[in-house]
Amino acid sequence: MIEPFAAVEIIATKRDRNELSDAQIDWVISAYTRGVVADEQMSALLMAILLNGMNSREISRWTNAMINSGERMEWSVLDRPTADKHSTGGVGDKITLPLAPLVAACGGAVPQLSGRGLGHTGGTLDKLESIPGWRAELSNEEMLNVLRDCGAVICAAGPGLVPADKKLYALRDVTATIEAIPLIASSIMSKKIAEGTSTLILDVKTGNGAFMSDPVQAGILARTMVELGKSAGVKTRALVTAMDVPLGLTVGNALEVRESVEVLAGGGPSDVVELTLLLAREMIDAAGIVGKDPEVALKDGSAMDVWRRMISAQDGDPDAVLPIAREQHRVLATQSGMMVGMDAMKVGVAAWRLGAGRSRQGEKVQAGAGIELHAKPGDEISSGQLLMTLHTDEAERFPRALEILEGCMIIVAGGTVNRLPLVVERIEA
Ligand code: URA
Repeated sequence: MIEPFAAVEIIATKRDRNELSDAQIDWVISAYTRGVVADEQMSALLMAILLNGMNSREISRWTNAMINSGERMEWSVLDRPTADKHSTGGVGDKITLPLAPLVAACGGAVPQLSGRGLGHTGGTLDKLESIPGWRAELSNEEMLNVLRDCGAVICAAGPGLVPADKKLYALRDVTATIEAIPLIASSIMSKKIAEGTSTLILDVKTGNGAFMSDPVQAGILARTMVELGKSAGVKTRALVTAMDVPLGLTVGNALEVRESVEVLAGGGPSDVVELTLLLAREMIDAAGIVGKDPEVALKDGSAMDVWRRMISAQDGDPDAVLPIAREQHRVLATQSGMMVGMDAMKVGVAAWRLGAGRSRQGEKVQAGAGIELHAKPGDEISSGQLLMTLHTDEAERFPRALEILEGCMIIVAGGTVNRLPLVVERIEA
Protein backbone atom coordinates (compact mmCIF):
# COMPACT_ATOMS: atom_id res chain seq x y z
CA MET A 1 0.00 0.00 0.00
CA ILE A 2 1.28 3.46 -0.86
CA GLU A 3 0.84 5.71 2.17
CA PRO A 4 -0.86 9.07 1.37
CA PHE A 5 1.39 11.15 3.65
CA ALA A 6 4.94 11.28 4.92
CA ALA A 7 5.19 11.52 8.71
CA VAL A 8 7.93 14.15 8.40
CA GLU A 9 5.56 16.57 6.64
CA ILE A 10 2.94 16.15 9.35
CA ILE A 11 5.52 16.79 12.09
CA ALA A 12 6.71 19.91 10.24
CA THR A 13 3.11 21.19 9.93
CA LYS A 14 2.65 21.15 13.72
CA ARG A 15 6.21 22.29 14.40
CA ASP A 16 5.48 25.40 12.31
CA ARG A 17 2.27 26.07 14.30
CA ASN A 18 -0.10 25.16 11.46
CA GLU A 19 -3.31 23.15 11.73
CA LEU A 20 -3.32 19.45 10.93
CA SER A 21 -5.98 18.49 8.37
CA ASP A 22 -8.58 15.80 9.13
CA ALA A 23 -6.91 13.49 6.61
CA GLN A 24 -3.48 14.01 8.17
CA ILE A 25 -4.83 13.22 11.67
CA ASP A 26 -6.73 10.11 10.53
CA TRP A 27 -3.68 8.82 8.72
CA VAL A 28 -1.06 9.51 11.39
CA ILE A 29 -3.06 7.77 14.16
CA SER A 30 -3.85 4.78 11.95
CA ALA A 31 -0.30 4.55 10.59
CA TYR A 32 1.21 4.79 14.09
CA THR A 33 -1.10 2.05 15.39
CA ARG A 34 -0.12 -0.13 12.38
CA GLY A 35 3.59 0.50 13.02
CA VAL A 36 4.12 2.53 9.82
CA VAL A 37 4.95 5.72 11.73
CA ALA A 38 7.93 5.08 14.03
CA ASP A 39 8.05 5.91 17.76
CA GLU A 40 10.66 8.61 17.17
CA GLN A 41 8.41 10.32 14.61
CA MET A 42 5.36 10.16 16.85
CA SER A 43 7.50 11.46 19.76
CA ALA A 44 8.40 14.53 17.72
CA LEU A 45 4.77 15.10 16.75
CA LEU A 46 3.59 14.72 20.37
CA MET A 47 6.18 17.27 21.52
CA ALA A 48 5.08 19.67 18.75
CA ILE A 49 1.47 19.24 19.95
CA LEU A 50 2.52 19.84 23.56
CA LEU A 51 4.34 23.03 22.58
CA ASN A 52 1.96 24.41 19.95
CA GLY A 53 -1.43 22.96 20.94
CA MET A 54 -4.40 21.87 18.83
CA ASN A 55 -7.69 23.65 18.15
CA SER A 56 -11.03 22.06 19.01
CA ARG A 57 -11.51 20.60 15.51
CA GLU A 58 -8.09 18.94 15.65
CA ILE A 59 -8.70 17.56 19.18
CA SER A 60 -12.09 16.17 18.16
CA ARG A 61 -10.69 14.53 15.01
CA TRP A 62 -7.67 13.15 16.90
CA THR A 63 -10.02 11.62 19.51
CA ASN A 64 -12.21 10.04 16.80
CA ALA A 65 -9.20 8.65 15.00
CA MET A 66 -8.10 7.05 18.29
CA ILE A 67 -11.57 5.55 18.83
CA ASN A 68 -11.53 4.17 15.27
CA SER A 69 -8.24 2.37 15.95
CA GLY A 70 -10.17 -0.34 17.84
CA GLU A 71 -13.54 -1.73 18.82
CA ARG A 72 -16.53 0.10 20.31
CA MET A 73 -18.55 -1.57 23.00
CA GLU A 74 -22.29 -1.19 23.29
CA TRP A 75 -24.78 -2.13 25.95
CA SER A 76 -28.17 -1.86 24.25
CA VAL A 77 -29.15 -5.33 25.57
CA LEU A 78 -29.23 -3.93 29.11
CA ASP A 79 -32.53 -2.76 30.57
CA ARG A 80 -30.85 0.03 32.63
CA PRO A 81 -29.22 3.31 31.57
CA THR A 82 -25.43 3.23 31.53
CA ALA A 83 -23.48 5.75 33.60
CA ASP A 84 -19.76 5.96 34.26
CA LYS A 85 -17.33 8.30 35.97
CA HIS A 86 -13.69 8.96 35.33
CA SER A 87 -11.22 10.61 37.67
CA THR A 88 -8.04 12.16 36.34
CA GLY A 89 -6.28 10.63 39.34
CA GLY A 90 -5.28 11.65 42.83
CA VAL A 91 -3.90 10.54 46.17
CA GLY A 92 -6.22 8.29 48.19
CA ASP A 93 -8.83 8.54 45.41
CA LYS A 94 -10.73 5.31 46.03
CA ILE A 95 -14.12 6.79 45.05
CA THR A 96 -14.78 4.34 42.18
CA LEU A 97 -14.92 1.45 44.67
CA PRO A 98 -17.98 2.59 46.65
CA LEU A 99 -19.43 4.65 43.76
CA ALA A 100 -19.90 1.90 41.14
CA PRO A 101 -21.97 -0.43 43.38
CA LEU A 102 -23.83 2.57 44.83
CA VAL A 103 -25.02 3.79 41.41
CA ALA A 104 -25.92 0.21 40.48
CA ALA A 105 -27.99 -0.06 43.68
CA CYS A 106 -29.86 3.07 42.52
CA GLY A 107 -30.73 1.53 39.13
CA GLY A 108 -27.80 2.49 36.87
CA ALA A 109 -25.53 0.14 34.90
CA VAL A 110 -21.88 1.08 35.48
CA PRO A 111 -19.36 -0.29 32.93
CA GLN A 112 -16.18 0.91 34.61
CA LEU A 113 -13.03 0.16 32.63
CA SER A 114 -10.18 1.12 34.94
CA GLY A 115 -6.42 1.31 34.94
CA ARG A 116 -3.44 0.53 37.10
CA GLY A 117 -1.51 3.23 38.94
CA LEU A 118 1.58 4.86 37.55
CA GLY A 119 3.71 7.28 39.52
CA HIS A 120 2.26 8.83 42.66
CA THR A 121 -1.42 8.19 41.84
CA GLY A 122 -3.02 4.85 42.65
CA GLY A 123 -4.93 2.66 40.20
CA THR A 124 -8.35 1.14 40.84
CA LEU A 125 -7.31 -2.29 39.55
CA ASP A 126 -4.29 -2.43 41.89
CA LYS A 127 -6.59 -1.65 44.80
CA LEU A 128 -9.14 -4.34 43.91
CA GLU A 129 -6.40 -6.90 43.24
CA SER A 130 -5.56 -6.76 46.95
CA ILE A 131 -8.81 -8.71 47.51
CA PRO A 132 -7.79 -12.40 47.49
CA GLY A 133 -8.83 -14.10 44.23
CA TRP A 134 -10.22 -10.99 42.48
CA ARG A 135 -9.63 -10.98 38.70
CA ALA A 136 -9.25 -7.76 36.65
CA GLU A 137 -9.06 -9.28 33.17
CA LEU A 138 -12.47 -10.25 31.76
CA SER A 139 -13.58 -11.19 28.25
CA ASN A 140 -16.23 -8.92 26.72
CA GLU A 141 -18.81 -11.65 27.37
CA GLU A 142 -17.83 -11.95 31.05
CA MET A 143 -17.96 -8.18 31.38
CA LEU A 144 -21.50 -8.11 30.02
CA ASN A 145 -22.55 -10.93 32.35
CA VAL A 146 -21.21 -9.17 35.48
CA LEU A 147 -22.78 -5.90 34.38
CA ARG A 148 -26.14 -7.57 33.73
CA ASP A 149 -26.11 -9.63 36.94
CA CYS A 150 -24.70 -7.04 39.37
CA GLY A 151 -25.40 -3.65 37.72
CA ALA A 152 -21.72 -2.68 37.83
CA VAL A 153 -18.44 -4.10 36.61
CA ILE A 154 -14.95 -2.80 37.28
CA CYS A 155 -12.30 -4.42 35.09
CA ALA A 156 -9.30 -3.83 32.82
CA ALA A 157 -9.86 -2.53 29.28
CA GLY A 158 -9.29 -5.36 26.79
CA PRO A 159 -6.59 -5.12 24.09
CA GLY A 160 -9.15 -4.22 21.41
CA LEU A 161 -10.25 -0.96 23.09
CA VAL A 162 -8.41 2.08 21.67
CA PRO A 163 -5.12 0.32 20.82
CA ALA A 164 -3.80 3.70 19.62
CA ASP A 165 -3.99 4.99 23.22
CA LYS A 166 -2.07 2.01 24.59
CA LYS A 167 0.87 2.91 22.31
CA LEU A 168 0.52 6.68 22.64
CA TYR A 169 0.19 6.64 26.44
CA ALA A 170 3.32 4.52 26.88
CA LEU A 171 5.22 6.83 24.51
CA ARG A 172 4.01 10.02 26.23
CA ASP A 173 5.11 8.58 29.56
CA VAL A 174 8.75 8.36 28.42
CA THR A 175 8.88 11.54 26.31
CA ALA A 176 7.65 14.13 28.87
CA THR A 177 4.48 14.72 26.82
CA ILE A 178 1.86 13.54 29.34
CA GLU A 179 0.83 17.05 30.40
CA ALA A 180 -0.59 18.38 27.10
CA ILE A 181 -4.33 19.09 27.51
CA PRO A 182 -5.27 17.91 23.95
CA LEU A 183 -3.42 14.64 24.57
CA ILE A 184 -4.89 14.02 28.05
CA ALA A 185 -8.41 14.89 26.87
CA SER A 186 -8.24 12.67 23.77
CA SER A 187 -6.67 9.80 25.73
CA ILE A 188 -9.37 9.78 28.41
CA MET A 189 -12.35 10.53 26.17
CA SER A 190 -11.43 8.08 23.39
CA LYS A 191 -11.54 5.25 25.96
CA LYS A 192 -14.75 6.46 27.62
CA ILE A 193 -16.56 6.96 24.28
CA ALA A 194 -15.36 3.57 22.96
CA GLU A 195 -16.50 1.95 26.21
CA GLY A 196 -20.06 2.78 25.15
CA THR A 197 -21.44 4.56 28.21
CA SER A 198 -24.33 6.92 27.49
CA THR A 199 -23.63 9.15 30.51
CA LEU A 200 -20.25 10.22 31.87
CA ILE A 201 -19.27 12.26 34.93
CA LEU A 202 -15.67 13.47 34.93
CA ASP A 203 -13.92 14.15 38.23
CA VAL A 204 -11.07 16.44 37.21
CA LYS A 205 -8.67 16.77 40.11
CA THR A 206 -6.79 19.94 40.94
CA GLY A 207 -4.33 20.92 43.67
CA ASN A 208 -0.82 19.74 44.38
CA GLY A 209 -1.72 16.01 44.39
CA ALA A 210 -3.21 16.16 40.86
CA PHE A 211 -1.71 16.05 37.35
CA MET A 212 -3.34 19.49 36.75
CA SER A 213 -2.37 21.38 39.90
CA ASP A 214 -3.62 24.74 38.56
CA PRO A 215 -7.44 25.06 38.85
CA VAL A 216 -7.57 27.20 35.68
CA GLN A 217 -5.80 24.51 33.62
CA ALA A 218 -7.99 21.83 35.25
CA GLY A 219 -11.07 23.84 34.15
CA ILE A 220 -9.79 24.03 30.56
CA LEU A 221 -9.18 20.26 30.55
CA ALA A 222 -12.67 19.66 31.98
CA ARG A 223 -14.35 21.86 29.33
CA THR A 224 -12.36 20.21 26.53
CA MET A 225 -13.50 16.76 27.66
CA VAL A 226 -17.14 17.80 28.15
CA GLU A 227 -17.16 19.17 24.56
CA LEU A 228 -15.67 15.92 23.23
CA GLY A 229 -18.30 13.89 25.07
CA LYS A 230 -21.10 16.10 23.81
CA SER A 231 -20.05 15.83 20.17
CA ALA A 232 -19.89 12.03 20.52
CA GLY A 233 -23.46 11.93 21.88
CA VAL A 234 -22.39 11.05 25.44
CA LYS A 235 -24.14 13.10 28.13
CA THR A 236 -21.06 14.47 29.88
CA ARG A 237 -20.59 16.66 32.94
CA ALA A 238 -17.42 17.51 34.84
CA LEU A 239 -16.66 18.49 38.40
CA VAL A 240 -13.27 20.05 39.10
CA THR A 241 -12.57 18.82 42.65
CA ALA A 242 -9.94 19.39 45.32
CA MET A 243 -6.82 17.24 45.44
CA ASP A 244 -4.74 19.52 47.68
CA VAL A 245 -5.13 17.00 50.53
CA PRO A 246 -5.42 13.19 50.16
CA LEU A 247 -8.97 11.87 50.07
CA GLY A 248 -9.96 10.04 53.23
CA LEU A 249 -7.54 8.62 55.77
CA THR A 250 -5.81 5.90 53.73
CA VAL A 251 -3.45 5.80 50.75
CA GLY A 252 -2.46 2.37 49.41
CA ASN A 253 -4.21 -0.60 47.89
CA ALA A 254 -5.67 -2.84 50.63
CA LEU A 255 -5.89 0.14 53.01
CA GLU A 256 -8.12 1.96 50.51
CA VAL A 257 -10.31 -1.11 49.95
CA ARG A 258 -10.85 -1.30 53.71
CA GLU A 259 -11.92 2.35 53.80
CA SER A 260 -14.23 1.90 50.79
CA VAL A 261 -15.95 -1.02 52.53
CA GLU A 262 -16.43 1.22 55.59
CA VAL A 263 -18.22 3.73 53.33
CA LEU A 264 -20.40 0.97 51.87
CA ALA A 265 -21.23 -0.08 55.43
CA GLY A 266 -22.59 3.41 56.12
CA GLY A 267 -19.46 4.85 57.83
CA GLY A 268 -16.10 6.04 56.50
CA PRO A 269 -14.41 9.48 56.40
CA SER A 270 -16.74 12.40 55.69
CA ASP A 271 -14.84 13.71 52.59
CA VAL A 272 -14.98 10.28 50.89
CA VAL A 273 -18.68 9.94 51.69
CA GLU A 274 -19.43 13.49 50.51
CA LEU A 275 -17.64 13.11 47.16
CA THR A 276 -19.10 9.63 46.57
CA LEU A 277 -22.64 10.95 47.14
CA LEU A 278 -22.02 14.05 45.02
CA LEU A 279 -20.79 12.00 42.05
CA ALA A 280 -23.53 9.38 42.52
CA ARG A 281 -26.20 12.11 42.41
CA GLU A 282 -24.68 13.56 39.21
CA MET A 283 -24.56 10.10 37.56
CA ILE A 284 -28.11 9.19 38.56
CA ASP A 285 -29.50 12.56 37.48
CA ALA A 286 -27.63 12.59 34.15
CA ALA A 287 -28.82 9.02 33.47
CA GLY A 288 -32.44 10.12 34.01
CA ILE A 289 -33.03 7.94 37.10
CA VAL A 290 -35.57 9.54 39.43
CA GLY A 291 -36.72 8.87 42.97
CA LYS A 292 -33.51 7.22 44.21
CA ASP A 293 -31.46 8.63 47.08
CA PRO A 294 -27.89 7.26 47.14
CA GLU A 295 -27.58 8.19 50.81
CA VAL A 296 -30.34 5.67 51.58
CA ALA A 297 -28.59 3.00 49.47
CA LEU A 298 -25.45 3.45 51.60
CA LYS A 299 -27.40 3.22 54.85
CA ASP A 300 -29.75 0.34 54.01
CA GLY A 301 -27.01 -2.04 52.79
CA SER A 302 -28.18 -2.26 49.17
CA ALA A 303 -24.91 -0.74 47.82
CA MET A 304 -22.95 -3.21 49.99
CA ASP A 305 -25.00 -6.10 48.54
CA VAL A 306 -24.02 -5.05 44.99
CA TRP A 307 -20.36 -4.74 46.05
CA ARG A 308 -20.33 -8.28 47.47
CA ARG A 309 -21.94 -9.73 44.32
CA MET A 310 -19.59 -7.74 42.07
CA ILE A 311 -16.46 -8.93 43.92
CA SER A 312 -17.66 -12.57 44.00
CA ALA A 313 -18.54 -12.45 40.26
CA GLN A 314 -14.85 -11.78 39.55
CA ASP A 315 -13.69 -14.62 41.83
CA GLY A 316 -12.86 -12.34 44.76
CA ASP A 317 -13.82 -13.21 48.33
CA PRO A 318 -15.63 -10.22 49.88
CA ASP A 319 -15.18 -11.78 53.35
CA ALA A 320 -11.45 -12.47 53.04
CA VAL A 321 -9.09 -10.75 55.45
CA LEU A 322 -7.24 -8.06 53.45
CA PRO A 323 -3.44 -8.25 53.30
CA ILE A 324 -1.55 -6.36 56.02
CA ALA A 325 2.02 -5.20 55.42
CA ARG A 326 4.72 -6.93 57.49
CA GLU A 327 6.29 -3.69 58.83
CA GLN A 328 4.83 -0.52 60.37
CA HIS A 329 6.41 2.81 61.30
CA ARG A 330 4.60 5.45 63.38
CA VAL A 331 5.16 9.17 62.77
CA LEU A 332 4.50 11.40 65.80
CA ALA A 333 3.96 15.17 65.97
CA THR A 334 6.98 17.14 67.13
CA GLN A 335 4.99 20.27 67.95
CA SER A 336 1.52 21.38 69.04
CA GLY A 337 -0.85 23.60 67.07
CA MET A 338 -3.44 23.55 64.30
CA MET A 339 -2.76 21.43 61.21
CA VAL A 340 -3.34 24.00 58.46
CA GLY A 341 -2.22 22.06 55.40
CA MET A 342 -0.98 18.77 54.02
CA ASP A 343 1.00 18.14 50.83
CA ALA A 344 -0.99 15.48 48.96
CA MET A 345 1.77 14.93 46.40
CA LYS A 346 4.30 14.09 49.14
CA VAL A 347 1.91 11.60 50.72
CA GLY A 348 1.32 9.98 47.31
CA VAL A 349 5.03 9.72 46.55
CA ALA A 350 5.74 8.29 50.03
CA ALA A 351 3.05 5.59 49.58
CA TRP A 352 4.56 4.81 46.19
CA ARG A 353 8.06 4.51 47.73
CA LEU A 354 6.65 2.17 50.40
CA GLY A 355 5.63 -0.20 47.58
CA ALA A 356 1.99 0.77 46.93
CA GLY A 357 2.80 1.94 43.38
CA ARG A 358 5.13 0.97 40.58
CA SER A 359 7.91 2.91 38.87
CA ARG A 360 7.87 0.79 35.72
CA GLN A 361 4.94 -0.67 33.83
CA GLY A 362 4.39 -4.34 34.74
CA GLU A 363 6.11 -4.12 38.16
CA LYS A 364 4.29 -5.84 41.06
CA VAL A 365 2.81 -3.65 43.79
CA GLN A 366 2.54 -4.54 47.49
CA ALA A 367 -1.10 -5.04 48.51
CA GLY A 368 -0.57 -3.95 52.13
CA ALA A 369 1.79 -1.00 51.57
CA GLY A 370 0.71 2.60 52.09
CA ILE A 371 -0.08 5.26 54.64
CA GLU A 372 -2.80 5.67 57.25
CA LEU A 373 -3.44 9.26 58.24
CA HIS A 374 -4.54 9.86 61.83
CA ALA A 375 -5.01 13.63 61.45
CA LYS A 376 -6.07 15.99 58.66
CA PRO A 377 -6.02 19.77 58.13
CA GLY A 378 -8.35 21.46 60.59
CA ASP A 379 -7.36 19.16 63.49
CA GLU A 380 -5.75 20.51 66.69
CA ILE A 381 -2.52 18.60 67.24
CA SER A 382 -0.61 17.94 70.49
CA SER A 383 3.11 17.26 70.46
CA GLY A 384 3.73 13.49 70.58
CA GLN A 385 0.35 12.68 68.96
CA LEU A 386 0.26 9.94 66.28
CA LEU A 387 0.03 11.58 62.82
CA MET A 388 0.64 8.75 60.36
CA THR A 389 1.33 5.00 60.24
CA LEU A 390 3.51 3.86 57.34
CA HIS A 391 3.07 0.29 56.06
CA THR A 392 5.40 -1.81 53.89
CA ASP A 393 6.66 -5.39 53.53
CA GLU A 394 10.26 -4.13 53.32
CA ALA A 395 11.51 -2.03 56.27
CA GLU A 396 14.39 -0.69 54.13
CA ARG A 397 11.77 1.39 52.26
CA PHE A 398 10.99 3.55 55.35
CA PRO A 399 13.91 6.05 55.10
CA ARG A 400 13.09 7.17 51.53
CA ALA A 401 9.39 7.49 52.38
CA LEU A 402 10.19 9.48 55.55
CA GLU A 403 12.53 11.73 53.57
CA ILE A 404 9.73 12.89 51.23
CA LEU A 405 7.23 13.19 54.10
CA GLU A 406 9.45 15.73 55.88
CA GLY A 407 7.33 18.88 56.32
CA CYS A 408 4.30 17.40 54.54
CA MET A 409 1.96 18.29 57.42
CA ILE A 410 2.00 21.98 58.30
CA ILE A 411 1.28 22.54 62.01
CA VAL A 412 1.28 26.08 63.41
CA ALA A 413 0.07 27.63 66.62
CA GLY A 414 -3.04 29.75 66.01
CA GLY A 415 -3.04 29.16 62.22
CA THR A 416 -6.05 28.98 59.91
CA VAL A 417 -6.71 26.26 57.36
CA ASN A 418 -6.24 27.25 53.74
CA ARG A 419 -7.91 24.63 51.53
CA LEU A 420 -9.58 24.39 48.14
CA PRO A 421 -13.36 23.87 48.28
CA LEU A 422 -14.35 20.25 47.54
CA VAL A 423 -15.96 21.33 44.24
CA VAL A 424 -13.97 24.08 42.52
CA GLU A 425 -16.08 24.20 39.33
CA ARG A 426 -18.99 22.31 37.70
CA ILE A 427 -19.29 22.11 33.92
CA GLU A 428 -22.27 20.85 31.98
CA ALA A 429 -22.55 21.00 28.20
N1 URA B 1 -5.47 9.19 32.18
C1 URA B 1 -5.52 8.75 30.90
O1 URA B 1 -6.18 7.76 30.59
N2 URA B 1 -4.84 9.42 29.97
C2 URA B 1 -4.10 10.52 30.26
O2 URA B 1 -3.53 11.08 29.37
C3 URA B 1 -4.03 10.97 31.59
C4 URA B 1 -4.74 10.28 32.56
